[in-house]
Amino acid sequence: MKTTILITGGAGFIGQRLARVLIASGTKVRILDNFSPQIHATDCLPPDLNAEVELIRADVRDRDAMKRALLGIEAVVHLAAETGTGQSMYEIDRYFNVNVQGTAVLLDLLQNDPCGKNVKSIIVASSRAIYGEGAYLCSNHGAVYPEQRSKEQMTKGLFEPICPICSTSLTLIPTAEHAPFKPMSIYGLTKQVQEQAVLMFAKTNGINGFALRYQNVYGPGQSLKNPYTGILAVFSNLARQDQPIEIYEDGQESRDFVYIDDVVEATVRSINYQGQFVGALNVGSGHATSVMTVAEEIKSFFNSNSSISVTGAFRLGDIRHNITDTNLLNEVLGFIPSIPFKQGLNNFLSWALEQSPEDKAAYLRSVNELAEKGLMGKVSK
Ligand SMILES: NC(=O)c1ccc[n+]([C@@H]2O[C@H](COP(=O)([O-])OP(=O)(O)OC[C@H]3O[C@@H](n4cnc5c(N)ncnc54)[C@H](O)[C@@H]3O)[C@@H](O)[C@H]2O)c1
Repeated sequence: MKTTILITGGAGFIGQRLARVLIASGTKVRILDNFSPQIHATDCLPPDLNAEVELIRADVRDRDAMKRALLGIEAVVHLAAETGTGQSMYEIDRYFNVNVQGTAVLLDLLQNDPCGKNVKSIIVASSRAIYGEGAYLCSNHGAVYPEQRSKEQMTKGLFEPICPICSTSLTLIPTAEHAPFKPMSIYGLTKQVQEQAVLMFAKTNGINGFALRYQNVYGPGQSLKNPYTGILAVFSNLARQDQPIEIYEDGQESRDFVYIDDVVEATVRSINYQGQFVGALNVGSGHATSVMTVAEEIKSFFNSNSSISVTGAFRLGDIRHNITDTNLLNEVLGFIPSIPFKQGLNNFLSWALEQSPEDKAAYLRSVNELAEKGLMGKVSK
């Protein structure tokens, strides 16, 4: 009999790509998704996928729908979530409800209802957001994990995190899974709770549990519509329309961008894992790319007339830098993401060119919302 996998949030960016890869390998896929209007323009899967998967259009918090979704399932990949870091700071009830309560419904059914009796493995999409600023090296104190940067510090244009013990400057190092939980957004906190709940459940019940701490995932298929997440999508929409690209902080902040195919490969390996494992794994490229570099590359690809400017504005709760330690991922799954950023970006932008660009009004609304909620700051000259 073929294995059947449930992907919650399977109509989204990572879910669709994962579904296609699983189907190609002969796995049966069931998707539960509510086609959140912030992400989706329609409530339909692309026709090729629609023909191959069993689709349940429902909310992950709908107990009856989840019961149907879990029948006969061997592994659950739990992706359904609200995903905007900044937005989570003022839509707190909604983020907790979908991310934490949604996970609670899933685990409660697995524990108490016969519908989930065949489930042998749960993979939950966690995030690098659970680390906050992540790991740095202090010349006096070794590895340290800085606190959230203060508004006062950032208003002076001092963006680099400092040692939490002696306040000296630090060197960025890769963040490994043993780093402490230090989320700096409600989104990050919900991801922490999701992963702790799933891993606790898996351990107690003797099944496999993977909390995959995805870094900044990008690639063809990512939502160009959602203005609350994904700077590649935001910058490419602006560049294609010759609109100004305004960069936060000084543009030297960096992220670990990991290509969608690498993320899907790590997820498939977790589903197919033959041993016993309960734990968290980083899924990132192990390389940091500055936001300024991203903007310049995108502008150059589209031969755009967009201006790129550093306005001195910053978002409270943003992290400064990020590089992933991928050693444990390699040890457990025998895999390290390998697609170089330049190649992946080229694939993403070539795909974006075939889609209609989104109007910048939604993006401007998302920025204004943050400002209205007091979550933006500006360097004072
Ligand atoms: N893309 C990234 O860079 C990234 C990084 C770290 C973690 N993650 C995590 O990976 C997962 C998938 O991310 P993605 O990039 O594919 O996001 P996405 O927004 O493209 O997909 C999320 C999907 O979940 C669905 N959804 C939202 N709320 C739901 C609900 N209440 N009930 C049912 N379905 C619901 C949406 O309709 C959407 O199809 C998320 O849990 C996200 O937090 C993503």
